Amino acid sequence: MLDLTLRFVFCALLGSVYASCPPRCECSEAAHTVKCVAKDLRSVPTGIPGYTRNLFITGNQISRIGPESFKGLENVTNLSLSNNRISEVESHTFSGLRSLRSLDLSNNQLAVIHPEAFTVQNQTLRELNLSRALYNHTSVMDLHSSRLYCLKVPEVSGGLFPYQ
Ligand SMILES: *[C@@H]1O[C@H](CO)[C@@H](O)[C@H](O)[C@H]1NC(C)=O
Ligand SMILES: *[C@@H]1O[C@H](CO)[C@@H](O)[C@H](O)[C@H]1NC(C)=O
Ligand SMILES: *[C@@H]1O[C@H](CO)[C@@H](O)[C@H](O)[C@H]1NC(C)=O
Ligand SMILES: *[C@@H]1O[C@H](CO)[C@@H](O)[C@H](O)[C@H]1NC(C)=O
Ligand SMILES: *[C@@H]1O[C@H](CO)[C@@H](O)[C@H](O)[C@H]1NC(C)=O
Repeated sequence: MLDLTLRFVFCALLGSVYASCPPRCECSEAAHTVKCVAKDLRSVPTGIPGYTRNLFITGNQISRIGPESFKGLENVTNLSLSNNRISEVESHTFSGLRSLRSLDLSNNQLAVIHPEAFTVQNQTLRELNLSRALYNHTSVMDLHSSRLYCLKVPEVSGGLFPYQ
């Protein structure tokens, strides 16, 4: 705990000098990449830099995502949220991600998928990985009514059959 607190203070101090990086994440401006991997995160961290194109928030304990999770991340092209505990995806969760092409939600527990959960402006989404992502029959039905198939996502892998 002390270590985390110190690190947080340190990051906060550095923030005024260097581009900031959320606590428990690794940021590379040169590679436009941010990784928050297996850090026991309960929610999507705030303060992810705007230059981010590749965002990996994997192997954490995130259970719910919504539009407020990804504010100001207009450059994110690849987003992986695999190996979390996401059970609910709110409407327009990914709407602010104007450049999103590839979304990996594999290995989650999606039970409630709100309508328009996967609506992305300008239909930029090209790949959606739902391998081992759907929890029960409710999520399968939600997926069908979420207009995913009207969004022209060329490649949806996994999840087309229950519990896969
Ligand atoms: C997104 O990338 C462009 C081009 O690199 C940059 O000009 C813009 O400031 C970035 N957006 C944010 C929110 O940082
Ligand atoms: C996104 O991921 C794909 C495949 O993993 C890769 O080819 C592409 O370069 C990545 N996009 C960016 C902006 O790095
Ligand atoms: C959508 O695409 C149009 C034309 O390609 C572009 O002018 C507009 O800025 C894009 N909108 C967003 C939100 O990226
Ligand atoms: C989808 O995710 C699973 C598990 O993370 C992975 O094994 C598989 O290769 C991915 N599929 C695609 C098409 O990327
Ligand atoms: C699926 O799981 C959710 C969350 O536990 C629950 O609300 C819903 O009733 C379940 N649906 C079915 C068909 O079991």
